[in-house]
Amino acid sequence: MITLDQIKKHPQIQAFIRATDNFIQQWGFTEHGFRHVNLVADISRNVAREVGFSKEDQELCSIAAYLHDTGNFIGRTWHHYWSSLLAYPILRELKMDPNDITVILNAITAHDKHDIKIVTKIAAVVILADKSDVHRSRVPKADIAHLDQDIHSRVNYAVTKSFLEVDNKQKRIILKITIDTKIVPLMEYFEIFTERMEFCRTAAEYLEYKFGLVINQTELL
Ligand SMILES: [Fe+2]
Ligand SMILES: [Fe+2]
Repeated sequence: MITLDQIKKHPQIQAFIRATDNFIQQWGFTEHGFRHVNLVADISRNVAREVGFSKEDQELCSIAAYLHDTGNFIGRTWHHYWSSLLAYPILRELKMDPNDITVILNAITAHDKHDIKIVTKIAAVVILADKSDVHRSRVPKADIAHLDQDIHSRVNYAVTKSFLEVDNKQKRIILKITIDTKIVPLMEYFEIFTERMEFCRTAAEYLEYKFGLVINQTELL
């Protein structure tokens, strides 16, 4: 079986992620480079393990998560397609099982808001992990001085902690975040993240869990 470690070492994949980081920095979006993809891969593996996936499926989740944003350097709007098309020849070159490749390509494509249509539990896990990465460390240094000009930077910067927890007793997947309300009022969070929270709810339901949201220790969902 192909592992995430093999994927991480592939020079072409490293080059795609470096190029994406560069593109995103120059265009001033929140971070989508090594920090984001490593974190989303880790969160995906944790969630997959907690909801009871096999070791093989945990690996597939983490690989799809690691590859999900690699195509941003070609263009932001359809990056979920570019990411999956770029991954295909590399996964074939590594002689990954054709069915595993198919599952990964679907999960990569399904993560973006233009095409969220969930047909596998692996895609559901990747969506939850990706959408839960809201954090101060995603805001480029250059943007910190201009937080007033961009709501995405402002809200990300205000989030000092975020954690995706699986509660198997209550069958809930809960996003727990801490927001510094001196930087943004909670309303601003909902202004830009209500749609994301709906995606998380759909993905959690696909896994037969309820989605929960706790902000500053207050249960909101
Ligand atoms: Fe993305
Ligand atoms: Fe992402």
